[in-house]
Amino acid sequence: MNQVFEAGGDAGSASNDPCAHPSGDDRFARLDVSMNRRMRRGDALIEVLHDAQLIFGRLDLDVLMYVARGLRLPPSRVYGVATFYHLFRFNAVADHNCVVCLGTACYVKGGDELLRAAEEGGGVRPGQTHPSGRLSLETARCVGTCGLAPVVVYDEQVQGNQQPALVRERVKGWLRHEPV
Ligand code: FES
Repeated sequence: MNQVFEAGGDAGSASNDPCAHPSGDDRFARLDVSMNRRMRRGDALIEVLHDAQLIFGRLDLDVLMYVARGLRLPPSRVYGVATFYHLFRFNAVADHNCVVCLGTACYVKGGDELLRAAEEGGGVRPGQTHPSGRLSLETARCVGTCGLAPVVVYDEQVQGNQQPALVRERVKGWLRHEPV
């Protein structure tokens, strides 16, 4: 399947493209082939992101920006689509990590609402790392401190009796580079 992305094919080599990625990384040329084969149509965004993940193994901010430029779409749209679907990965090591406990004791006290708040505040889904590398989000099935439920673990520090507003602000702060 990967052969469809080989650079140099008649359908889309980007070797003379003045917009080629300045790094010279030939994986971007292969991504150009993918976009060219789809006539750089904006409605092919999901297919192109899928190809990008096959080529790079994950979707970093640089790749998302390259796709946005290549398909002439707002970066916010590309980012929004990429983070909406669970099949896309941004799994670089992050500066900060948020783990929302969804074990029974936490769940009955609103663990699912805490997770929603973390997703909204951080712009990521469980299992993903934000393309900026500032944060990753995970869930757990009981972290062993049920008496403090509902629990969130921020950078390995367990915090009990959490509320959605607290979680949202904490992860938003990470994205704003606020000290913790
Ligand atoms: S269920 Fe969350 S700490 Fe046990």
